[in-house]
Amino acid sequence: MMDNSLCRSDIIIGRVGEESYPNMVQIISKLPIPLGTYVSIPFDAYDISTGDKKSHCAVGVISVTSYRKIVPVTPTFIASSSTNIGIDDENLRYAPSRARIFADIINGNVETPSVPPPPDTEIYLAPSHILSKIFGSGKTGSIRLGHLIGRSDVEINVDVNALSKHLFITGTTGSGKSNTVAIIADRVASIGGTVLIFDVHGEYWNLVPQSPDVDIQRIDYRLNPLKIPTRMLTRMIIPEAGATRQRALTAKAIDVAKKVVEKAITSFGTGAELIEAVSSGKINELLADLGHKQLFGGQKISINIDEEIANATSADDILLELFKKIVSVFLSSSTNEKESALKALSKIEEFFDIVSVSFSTPSIVEFLKPASITVLNVSDLADEQKDYSLKSVMDELLSYSKQMLARNSPHPILVFIEEAHLFLSSSRHTISRSSIERVAREGRKFGLALAIVSQRPRNIDSNTVSQVQNFVFMKLVQEADQQAIMNISDMLTEDIATSLASLGVGEAIVLGEWIGRFPAYVKIDKHSGKRAGATLDIASIWSALKTRKDMYNRLAKESEDAYRDISNLI
Ligand SMILES: Nc1ncnc2c1ncn2[C@@H]1O[C@H](COP(=O)(O)OP(=O)(O)OP(=O)(O)O)[C@@H](O)[C@H]1O
Ligand SMILES: [Mg+2]
Repeated sequence: MMDNSLCRSDIIIGRVGEESYPNMVQIISKLPIPLGTYVSIPFDAYDISTGDKKSHCAVGVISVTSYRKIVPVTPTFIASSSTNIGIDDENLRYAPSRARIFADIINGNVETPSVPPPPDTEIYLAPSHILSKIFGSGKTGSIRLGHLIGRSDVEINVDVNALSKHLFITGTTGSGKSNTVAIIADRVASIGGTVLIFDVHGEYWNLVPQSPDVDIQRIDYRLNPLKIPTRMLTRMIIPEAGATRQRALTAKAIDVAKKVVEKAITSFGTGAELIEAVSSGKINELLADLGHKQLFGGQKISINIDEEIANATSADDILLELFKKIVSVFLSSSTNEKESALKALSKIEEFFDIVSVSFSTPSIVEFLKPASITVLNVSDLADEQKDYSLKSVMDELLSYSKQMLARNSPHPILVFIEEAHLFLSSSRHTISRSSIERVAREGRKFGLALAIVSQRPRNIDSNTVSQVQNFVFMKLVQEADQQAIMNISDMLTEDIATSLASLGVGEAIVLGEWIGRFPAYVKIDKHSGKRAGATLDIASIWSALKTRKDMYNRLAKESEDAYRDISNLI
């Protein structure tokens, strides 16, 4: 039998009130107990199967707190009702609260609570060793997130393996989501993980890993038509299910264009020589070298050096114009399927007008190294371009993960998507959505884990998040947002969701498989590495500017005075 003294601490915070259930206990105390306070309740109960008495230690967290005053109706009422609930405050104030009981420790085992603690039982501030037993898994394959709120001696660790069932981080702006991303990314990488961050605002560009053995790679992400498999690229350009002819023609045209561009790069590089070669028409010799027959089915075709190519100044621009030119020449020369070819051509033109392309961006796959964080900066792209880029990243990652598994060398990857509501909008169609959803559905089998981050949970389409099993809920004030996340996670009860409004910066309710069966109120560790996008300390910046202004004014005045002195002298 467990010694129930382990369930007690030095601090008694109240008593069980009138109502007590296995998973919810009313508490009466003199002073309000802060939300998120962990409590323990030692009590004995009979085991009905054996008839033996057993010691229990119920552990819970304060999820509702209040302060009340008994309103006197009659003098006798005051006397009886106040002593009934054990109130000795002379102003008849008392603090009813509720604790959500999530664990019952019986004989040293953590179990699901099934008996209610009796009314009037003393309630303690939960001793740290009990909480550590419940939360501090600390086993291999877990990483530290932070500590319990107000209990810096109770570490919170999460199981990295559970991340294959994806992660959702949400909270209002400034609540600490990106800091959480930095902490998780850094610590996952430090145990050898491969992490990618789709950085919508360029916030992670300056991220410096805390762990010395973590590599960071930063790229301005662009689509590189040479690196994306033709089938994938074709699907992006012509997504319509029925347009198979258009797609087949486009795929052929793209294959030819890729060959030409690749040849141009190997022959002339991507510098001044290339620009010269294209503008001087040398490129047609290259086409001849490649063999017209092979490229255009026997037609002799030459590329006119038109204004667009001649005016292009960077190698990327030139290659893109060349690429489009080849595609268009190929499609317009396809004599037997004129109509499909023309339709395809206009879609291709539209696509390359929208999407930001670079022929020098490496394939995503080249960044997938162990113990590394790759920041894919897309902050300078328009929303639609970000959308296309994300689709291509998701498709490439999924296809890579599948291949690696098929080769018996699985390579797990954790990918963060910031501002996920932009891509998983519940009200707007987006290009990337179906690809993100596919990763959410299938990624688990291949070790491709998704971490979606958003400050607007109510605007997120529920299809993807319904696949998510791990959560970091930070401060959320709006009821619609609280409601939205309650629909997503069935572990989140209404009282806990409501308590999200009072969380501070960096504080979170962490739920899901990665933390175990119990909700944890966590103070997330602060990431020390520099990151842009942190809230500016506006007041001190202004104050520094003002000091500088005062100084300039003073200097100006001093030099003016000096000037006057000198002019008086002469
Ligand atoms: N766990 C923490 N401990 C201490 N300070 C924190 C913590 N988390 C965040 N902060 C501070 O709060 C500010 C905002 O954090 P962060 O940028 O992570 O918020 P956010 O939720 O990503 O905001 P946004 O929605 O605007 O992107 C930063 O200045 C950061 O340093
Ligand atoms: Mg952020």
